[in-house]
Amino acid sequence: MSRLLVTGGAGFIGSNFVHYWIARHPDDRIVVLDSLTYAGNLANLEAAAQHPGFRFVHGDIRDQGLVESLLREEELDSIIHLAAESHVDRSISGPDIFVDVNINGTHSLLKAARRAWMENPGTDPERYRFHHVSTDEVYGSLGPTDAAFTESTPYSPNSPYAASKAASDHLVRAYQHTYGLPTSISNCSNNYGPYQFPEKLIPLCIVNLLVGKALPIYGDGQNVRDWLHVDDHSRGIELILDRGRVGETYNIGSRNEQANLDLVRQLCRSVDKLFAERPELCDRFPEAPPASGRQCKEAIEFVTDRPGHDRRYAIDSSRLEDELGYSSTTDFETGMDSTVLWFLENEAWWRAVMDESYREWMTDQYGQ
Ligand code: NAD
Ligand code: DAU
Repeated sequence: MSRLLVTGGAGFIGSNFVHYWIARHPDDRIVVLDSLTYAGNLANLEAAAQHPGFRFVHGDIRDQGLVESLLREEELDSIIHLAAESHVDRSISGPDIFVDVNINGTHSLLKAARRAWMENPGTDPERYRFHHVSTDEVYGSLGPTDAAFTESTPYSPNSPYAASKAASDHLVRAYQHTYGLPTSISNCSNNYGPYQFPEKLIPLCIVNLLVGKALPIYGDGQNVRDWLHVDDHSRGIELILDRGRVGETYNIGSRNEQANLDLVRQLCRSVDKLFAERPELCDRFPEAPPASGRQCKEAIEFVTDRPGHDRRYAIDSSRLEDELGYSSTTDFETGMDSTVLWFLENEAWWRAVMDESYREWMTDQYGQ
């Protein structure tokens, strides 16, 4: 039985990871620590809150004392560190919080883990694991024919977000090398799935279609991302926690490169198809293009490019596949259809997460 601390567990990947973990390890203790920024939402954890082994703590990863006492009091043996500022565009308009949370926050967490886990005589480091969830953006940008990123690709982060994640990766590595803290790192490609905040490309486009807004495509729409369903990410982390080597880095991806314009066109086809199959959707979403006989792709609009926009990411996850038997299982078209369906069926969720007062209310109700 494991006792997990999941930082950022009220965010997109964190909450999916919590659901995934509870379904597969029902006897484990799982404590979520989340400060509930705009991206964190207790509604994402409603199902988990019914589980007896689950606890939510409203707090900040930069509060070293809080983290240390949680680790001790709950006898936690694993940290899955997801808490971060995660949106590239926000890091361009306001980089300070990215440096503070992603770098200083990760450092604070490392210090807490070191004190709680390593400073007792006779501690067995094998009992513990600090797993840091990072991104493929630390490797920079690929040309059209470059080989995919491997774990030995030199770091070359281009946005303040990517630079802050790169710095946090280096700190995690240094704490393992210098102090023997049992760490591992995963660098993952773009995720998609339920509960993703509607600022990222896929949920933004779904929600915009449903409310009759344009689909903003940066630049020429030919930037390429390597898309992975969030459950496949959770499975990769699970394998690393279970059998991954301490001190090692693992890339997680699914060899699913898509130019943004192609991806958005596929998303449009998926929404068109669902509206054709379910005519009642035209009454629920009268502003959506199919409700007035138009195709969704007509909403595509090219807009000014993101400054410093990385051209292409592609992940080579051979190490995870060869060492730990990983393979991604969600086919992209199926994953996209199920994600679109999730947003159609969870209109209250996406309307609410965009409503500040609702989030404050949830924090008052359930936060600590
Ligand atoms: P998200 O923005 O949806 O969620 C981040 C969560 O962290 C939120 O719940 C937020 O409230 C919480 N948080 C932020 N600052 C905090 C603080 N100081 N203390 C405690 N909690 C805090 O992010 P996401 O997309 O779920 O990403 C999770 C992690 O995975 C991040 O570290 C990100 O860099 C990494 N990652 C994301 C992707 C992706 O495609 N989304 C891909 C690879 C790696
Ligand atoms: O690669 C992993 C990274 O993926 C994670 O580390 C980040 O946390 C996550 O936000 C994501 O970063 P991206 O910048 O790739 O994701 P985003 O959804 O913001 O954008 C995907 C692509 O779509 C990118 O090329 C920019 C483009 N885009 C995005 C938005 C929001 C548009 O063309 N229009 C948009 O409105």
